[in-house]
Amino acid sequence: MKKIVAILSFLSAITLFADIENGKVVYAQNCANCHSVSMTGGMGKDFNLVSYNRKKEDVIKYIVSPMTMYREFGYSANAMPRFPLSGEDVEDVAEYIDSLQRFKVWMKKGE
Ligand code: HEC
Repeated sequence: MKKIVAILSFLSAITLFADIENGKVVYAQNCANCHSVSMTGGMGKDFNLVSYNRKKEDVIKYIVSPMTMYREFGYSANAMPRFPLSGEDVEDVAEYIDSLQRFKVWMKKGE
């Protein structure tokens, strides 16, 4: 039984790793033009700030439909386009953004 648990947790660790790695690729190909990850600026917010302030589910909502979400996110206009990404790629890039900052402001608020 212990062995099975060990194997399962090893496998899930690999999948998690693979998701974030794919998310990084999705980021580089689709988001890096406008969103930095090293606080170097751009048209959109640096993803470290997004990671700190937003939940993964909300990041997914924004990627899927920026044109219907921008007001809720505090913007007065929408310049971000919608991307033809698969559900898996959306999930992975959100996971990658989520992994950037471990100490979230929304966790501190206890939301
Ligand atoms: C053409 C430039 C551009 C590209 C490419 C782009 N974004 Fe954006 N993004 C923006 C801008 C500008 C905003 C601010 C609101 C708006 O205009 O919709 C934004 C806002 C966001 C937000 C909300 C941030 C917040 O917390 O307020 C998220 C999340 C986001 N983008 C994720 C992504 C992801 C993920 C990708 C790649 C799949 C991506 N963006 C690609 C320009 C871009």
